[in-house]
Amino acid sequence: MDRSDIAISAQRAAAPAGPVVQTEKLEKVYTMGDVKVHALRGISLRIDAGEFIAVMGASGSGKSTFMNLVGCLDRPTAGRYLLRGEDVSRFSRDELARVRGREIGFVFQGFNLLPRTNAVENVELPMLYQGIPARERHARAAEALRTVGLGDRLDHTPAQLSGGQQQRVAIARALVNRPTVVLADEPTGNLDSQTSVEVMAIFQQLNDQGLTVLLVTHEPDIAQHAKRVVTFKDGLVLDDRRVENRRIARIEPRERIEPREGAA
Ligand SMILES: Nc1ncnc2c1ncn2[C@@H]1O[C@H](COP(=O)(O)OP(=O)(O)OP(=O)(O)O)[C@@H](O)[C@H]1O
Ligand SMILES: [Mg+2]
Repeated sequence: MDRSDIAISAQRAAAPAGPVVQTEKLEKVYTMGDVKVHALRGISLRIDAGEFIAVMGASGSGKSTFMNLVGCLDRPTAGRYLLRGEDVSRFSRDELARVRGREIGFVFQGFNLLPRTNAVENVELPMLYQGIPARERHARAAEALRTVGLGDRLDHTPAQLSGGQQQRVAIARALVNRPTVVLADEPTGNLDSQTSVEVMAIFQQLNDQGLTVLLVTHEPDIAQHAKRVVTFKDGLVLDDRRVENRRIARIEPRERIEPREGAA
């Protein structure tokens, strides 16, 4: 199908130029009793608006630790982290939570949806903490679900959705607060290869519209959909390169994403 078939509304204002994420010699040491684990040993990365980066590397190389820091879920032991130019590395937990709610969307390997809650309510969740009125919450959640091609599944609970559809609900949830950057830690780890490509198609479309995407993957085929691949080893950047012969994900007719209502 033609990718232009998929109508995605521009949810965000155009991304500002310049680095969205800038880390300088970022370190993280976990302390468990007497044992210290040096998970990150000095990661310096600059991520500009509109980039699409895949983070790769062996198990234990620090990928999730890095994502947690970038996502303001945790604080570095040393080094600096500038998020849209603001040094957040010494922020308190409360300050981090505020920045996180405003700037970051998360997508997880296991979807992390509430089980007995339908799609639209799951997507509304991040807005509950933002004081947005119920009517607007609902409208924005429904719009985000249409964006990922689930406009006809608003009332379905996770058990009534396929794995790929559940992950699309999770992506809608990540988008609903109009974040600056979406972080996805192995978002295709629980999906078969065709469904994985469908999920990558969504990330590519969102990135085409200016959203900055950072995702962790173990699979070279998935990383090939990004524009840049950063490889970690033992808490350091081993390699950082542009993707050549980038893959463009296409959605098989099996599960076409319907054009948005009212779209031509
Ligand atoms: N909360 C924690 N407490 C203590 N050590 C931790 C914690 N989280 C991670 N680690 C350790 O830090 C190192 C990096 O872990 P991390 O989860 O970042 O790796 P990863 O690259 O995401 O691995 P995987 O590919 O298996 O998900 C590992 O040695 C891990 O055991
Ligand atoms: Mg991990």
